[in-house]
Amino acid sequence: MNSPEKEFLVKSEWVSASNIALVKYWGKHGNQLPANSSLSMTLKNSVTRTIVRLVDSKIQPKTQFFFEGLAAPDFEPKIETFLSQIIRFFPFLKNYSLVIESWNTFPHSAGIASSASAMSALALCVSSISGEMQPGGDNSKIFSRRASEIARLGSGSASRSVFGGFSVWGKTSFVAGSSDEWAVPLDFNVNPVFSEMQDSILIVSSAKKKISSTAGHHLMNAHPYAEQRYRLAEKNMGLILNALKSGNVADFIRVTENEALGLHSLMMSSDPGFMLMEPGTLQIINKIRDYRERTGAFLCFTLDAGPNVHLLYPASEKENVKDFINGELLEHCERGKVLWDEMGSGPVRIA
Ligand code: DP6
Repeated sequence: MNSPEKEFLVKSEWVSASNIALVKYWGKHGNQLPANSSLSMTLKNSVTRTIVRLVDSKIQPKTQFFFEGLAAPDFEPKIETFLSQIIRFFPFLKNYSLVIESWNTFPHSAGIASSASAMSALALCVSSISGEMQPGGDNSKIFSRRASEIARLGSGSASRSVFGGFSVWGKTSFVAGSSDEWAVPLDFNVNPVFSEMQDSILIVSSAKKKISSTAGHHLMNAHPYAEQRYRLAEKNMGLILNALKSGNVADFIRVTENEALGLHSLMMSSDPGFMLMEPGTLQIINKIRDYRERTGAFLCFTLDAGPNVHLLYPASEKENVKDFINGELLEHCERGKVLWDEMGSGPVRIA
């Protein structure tokens, strides 16, 4: 194994978190442009740490990737494709190779999408290196926007992880400055009821996904409900932004759960169709709704393109929800597995 500690010119290190979408991105066109705008919450604990070293291509002719300390050549073709996409932003890359090392805090087999944290961390590292290669250094005004655009080319959802809190990717009439090319943070302070949101990820199954999200997005091209879906997403975006502003918890719950089940109904009704929920997913959802009805507590669920349930609630409900999870939900989780996460404040550059 070649050592990652090659003679390097510039080095950059970032830690970036995964995110969970509340309004879902599902369907894309052109060069990684979304069919509708999406809104997500950046997490805190589910992070990727990435170090990128820039090496003269005469010393190291090809990009190398190390995952959790081991050479991982299987990922290199995907990274090469990504680098060929971003070379127009960073022409200096033509003369250099990258040595990339990455670590995840969450287990590889936990069924958690890692592309958002991984691609945002990589995009931030390359953007920082580019800043250092230029005489004036970083242009911080557009640094995050540019990094978000680069991250998007690696994975759409990664564009949103460049910002902390809630962020929006995709042009929407409800957010000034929103764009299909990069994500933006919200331009208002969210109501305090949403300021310390928790996300407990109930691992129903850690099995590999039955369909990649990229393949799922493509199925939307011929989906009979596509146009209605894109209209509904825009309506839900307006509703959830208003809820985040005004503190309307009922609307927040309504939209979040509608988007989660809407995503899965699109997957079920595509051709071919996919059922990604497991019996445990439905049992958990029913128990969450029942608990909410019984107690009036603020908690709700969302789903990614898989069977695991993200249970969302404010910090003030922490103790009660912990008892609820331990008492009623753990039995539906694979080996009782839960990832305890919460809203995070965005990527951090390690000096
Ligand atoms: C269901 O961002 O993973 O998680 O752009 O092809 O890499 P690519 O897809 P990806 O899709 C995420 C889909 C989703 C919803 C979301 O995060 O908005």
